[in-house]
Amino acid sequence: SDNIEFLKALPKCEHHIHIEGSLSPELLFQLSAKNNIPLPESDAAYSSIPALHQRYADFQSLDDFLGYYYTAMSTLIHASDFEALAMAYFTRAAADGVLHTELSFDPQAHTSRGIALTTVLTGLSAARARAASELGVSSVLICCFLRHLPVHESLVFFESEALQQAFASGEVVGIGLDSSEAGFPARGFEDLYTRARALGLRVTAHAGEEVGPESVREALDVLRVERVDHGISLVQDEALMRRVAEEGVMLSCCPLSNVVLRNVKSVADVPLRVFLEKGVRFSVNSDDPAYFGGYILDNFVAVQKAFGLSVEEWRTVVTNSVEGSWCDQARKSKIL
Ligand code: HPA
Ligand code: ZN
Repeated sequence: SDNIEFLKALPKCEHHIHIEGSLSPELLFQLSAKNNIPLPESDAAYSSIPALHQRYADFQSLDDFLGYYYTAMSTLIHASDFEALAMAYFTRAAADGVLHTELSFDPQAHTSRGIALTTVLTGLSAARARAASELGVSSVLICCFLRHLPVHESLVFFESEALQQAFASGEVVGIGLDSSEAGFPARGFEDLYTRARALGLRVTAHAGEEVGPESVREALDVLRVERVDHGISLVQDEALMRRVAEEGVMLSCCPLSNVVLRNVKSVADVPLRVFLEKGVRFSVNSDDPAYFGGYILDNFVAVQKAFGLSVEEWRTVVTNSVEGSWCDQARKSKIL
């Protein structure tokens, strides 16, 4: 319909996509066979591709999803695997009208099973170069730290030569914090974020996805993030919402993710209308598109179905998301 064509044509920036979360069941089975990485026989979900799709449609919680997410990424071994994964995402994103995208990745989930950071980065950066030249899609990389692991491990990894080199060269422009939110408060990662900000890195963190607004406040006060990933529980704290609006902190919202992980009952319960009314900036993103039933355009379509935003309101969303991107001003001007 006209509606979909309008949404498709909007110039999009994606801020919240875990590249490992774009690993489809189809690619998972291929990589498992190619790399000789067996899938858990004890879980009937891995008996076939359709069975796995069915299981992905029935996540009970963030942690339920994360178990499948970490199992699937264990089939990524070679730089060429990471390149193929990212290239498939870039191709799909370009078709959805994405002009700039900020890929989160979870290196600790790879180094912990013996895959070197340089292997991961070689593959992702090869895909990024091809996306720029073949698809006209610019991109940056965000190194996410896993909050369920001991804080000490994040500091050791942060200081590793390979990661410091990736920061110094500009190959990785920022850090994030992801994995289980409940029970792993942001305050533990204060030192990590202080060091990252001292290097001039961009900083974001998942907060307010499965925990209340106190988690968002902690990310702002302790980690001093410039963006918040998800942040939907912010709606429960009027004063904090005003502060976020005033300070221009951007939320990277992922409506389909919130529904599939049961943080809300339906897309209509993601507080995007309230955020618009209160001047809280947000972008609309896919999070883990292979797991949550859709890429960025599917999320735009679901938002439109739930809220019926005006052309003017979409302009606001799109403009804010370009302004909140971590590319240079020349690129922003070109996109808008
Ligand atoms: N939340 C937390 N950690 C994650 C997510 C998410 O939605 N996706 C991948 N890692
Ligand atoms: Zn996420």
